[in-house]
Amino acid sequence: MKNDFYNKSYISIDQITSKEQVMSLFAVANTMEKHVLSGKVYEPLKGMCVAVLFYQPSTRTFTSFSAAAKRLGAYVIGLNEMNSFSSAAKGESLEDTIKAIHQTTGANAIVIRHPDDNSSEVAAGASYVPVVNGGSGKKEHPTQALLDLYTIYRKFGRFNNLHIAMVGDLKFGRTIKSLSKLLTVVGEKITITFISPKELRAPKELIKELKEKGVTISQKSQFGHVLEEVDVVYMTRVQKEWFEKEGKMEEYERLKLKFILEQKHVDKMKKESIVMHPLPRVGEILLEVDNDPRAWYFKQMRSGLYVRMALLKSILLK
Ligand code: CP
Repeated sequence: MKNDFYNKSYISIDQITSKEQVMSLFAVANTMEKHVLSGKVYEPLKGMCVAVLFYQPSTRTFTSFSAAAKRLGAYVIGLNEMNSFSSAAKGESLEDTIKAIHQTTGANAIVIRHPDDNSSEVAAGASYVPVVNGGSGKKEHPTQALLDLYTIYRKFGRFNNLHIAMVGDLKFGRTIKSLSKLLTVVGEKITITFISPKELRAPKELIKELKEKGVTISQKSQFGHVLEEVDVVYMTRVQKEWFEKEGKMEEYERLKLKFILEQKHVDKMKKESIVMHPLPRVGEILLEVDNDPRAWYFKQMRSGLYVRMALLKSILLK
């Protein structure tokens, strides 16, 4: 299969322009799963180095990129707390840091998470080697979108004719933006119901773009009867860090738990539907839901390992 990712940065979901691109990556991800589950050594990236630079907290993305590179045999330079412990704390520009990391480590690829919306573009512009966006500001989380879609495909075996409810902080959350855009590339007859407090609605430009691309959109401020209709409920947390930055903690306290998914809600969902969440959760899905077969947010995390292995391999090997 054609490898469109080879030797390129992956910084935006807008770079995914065809279903074929997605399917070829997912085919590699399927192979990655087999390698991981076999327990045998598999080192196609032996001798290579991947730097993982995080300026914002992370459990999943940091560890799964690090594990993905290591499981492929690459040497990993993993640095979190970049804001405090790199020379960024002394005022070094992102461009200089990216150049420095390549020079000091010989990294063949750099994964970055950063609070600025355009950080990955800036990093890729300065970098001698491919840059992968592990989450940029409020705007993009393009590898999360791929792993979310991979999870959906593994459950339903299709991209068409899906109804997804995206719930919570649709204003600051970056995952729903990347996933909803990706769905327009691969699927037909997609329906998205955005459910949030009015203060946290999805950006108007996003809604306009999705409608232009044929997605049926509705916006609600309560669950209503939607849960009975959807294939996927995609929960998100209200993003405290952005309220803190804007000095709006009272608003955060008021909005943070407007939508809590309880077992009584899941009981209304179709038997074949699933609950997803990019995680972390901070109260918006009760623990009582975890044992329901529709709770797919833990499986979703494992998709991240396989998809990120596939992406790193595709970027670094022809
Ligand atoms: N989904 C996600 O990006 O999780 P982390 O912030 O833990 O990486």
